[in-house]
Amino acid sequence: MSRNEGSDGLEKNKKFRMMIPGPVEVHPDVLKAMGSPVEPHYGDAWVEKNRRVLEMLATIFNTTGDVFLMVGSGTCAIDAGFGSCLQSGERILIGNNGFFGDRLVSIAEHNGLDVVQMKGEWGKELDPQAIRDVLKKDSAIKAVAIVHGETSTTVLNPIQEIGPIVREYGALFLVDAVSSLGGVPFDMDNWCIDVCASATQKCLGAPPGLAPVAVNERAWKSIDRKEKGEHGWYADLRVWRQYATEWGDWHPSPITMATNNVNALLVSLTQLMEEGIDVRMERYRSLAMQLREGLRAAGMPPFTTDAKMNPVLTAGVSPQGINSAEIVKYLLDEYAVQISGGLGELKTKIFRIGHMSPIMTKDDIQIVCDALKAFPG
Ligand SMILES: Cc1ncc(COP(=O)(O)O)c(C=O)c1O
Repeated sequence: MSRNEGSDGLEKNKKFRMMIPGPVEVHPDVLKAMGSPVEPHYGDAWVEKNRRVLEMLATIFNTTGDVFLMVGSGTCAIDAGFGSCLQSGERILIGNNGFFGDRLVSIAEHNGLDVVQMKGEWGKELDPQAIRDVLKKDSAIKAVAIVHGETSTTVLNPIQEIGPIVREYGALFLVDAVSSLGGVPFDMDNWCIDVCASATQKCLGAPPGLAPVAVNERAWKSIDRKEKGEHGWYADLRVWRQYATEWGDWHPSPITMATNNVNALLVSLTQLMEEGIDVRMERYRSLAMQLREGLRAAGMPPFTTDAKMNPVLTAGVSPQGINSAEIVKYLLDEYAVQISGGLGELKTKIFRIGHMSPIMTKDDIQIVCDALKAFPG
């Protein structure tokens, strides 16, 4: 028996595979760009590079609004959206059906907002009509915030249905697309999203460190009525707009830009454009279906239905009496595949497999499927 062959005779592949729900493995050319010489964050060459990145991001958000690239993680962009659009004491409705919904509540509270929650069951989509019911009864709600891809449960919330309802009631719609942008069809303007926050380390296929945020005219109206300085300077979107407009032809951001991260992102976004957004999404969808079939064959069915699946992140349900941590450990120890367990109330019940890396292949998925089928538990 060779070193990589298990007692069941299955060939074990020891190449390390990171299949957690972000960050993701990035393309070697993206890593190479990350290691390119440090360059100035101003001047003609930089302005042009920055412009190309923002233009591609706007295409991926599907917006004619403004896009900024903040240095920070996704939370930084969410914080900027909440703190810029709303005054302390103003009411925000948060549709919360998971760990990152809880996080939105915390971010809102730290910005001094008056939080109302519409709690949904972990593992079930938020109900647009329930959002409508809350908005109908409470005219003090100024904004609604929702996580698109709830990474803790793998549920994809129906923001395309919720957005038009929020607009009907005159509130702002703020969306956390940290784990969906670039991997899931997205239509910011048509879905009536006013501010959308994301991050580079998931479906956008670049290292952690940058947070794209898109802002439309309705959001600017709300931002511009506010006193300056209430929620700090760095996360005030007005500051980012000011530099983009007044210094845009020389030094387009208010801070020292993380130029290496931008170079890496430029490569990953160019690859996405060359592949084609629709082609990339279809590829993810097909990998998700392959994994779902494998989970069923292994007796660990997908946690969500195929009809409502998240195409970049899949959870399997642990067999009766088995803690999902055992499955996570087994894949890492025996196959060098790193996946994640559940979070919160689902901690021991599900395991989560991220397939949001642009370099994920059918072979990677097959290795996981075969390994799960051979799980000795
Ligand atoms: C849906 C969602 N929102 C927010 C975050 C926080 O993002 P970051 O860690 O980039 O600040 C994450 C991170 O996993 C996430 O999955």
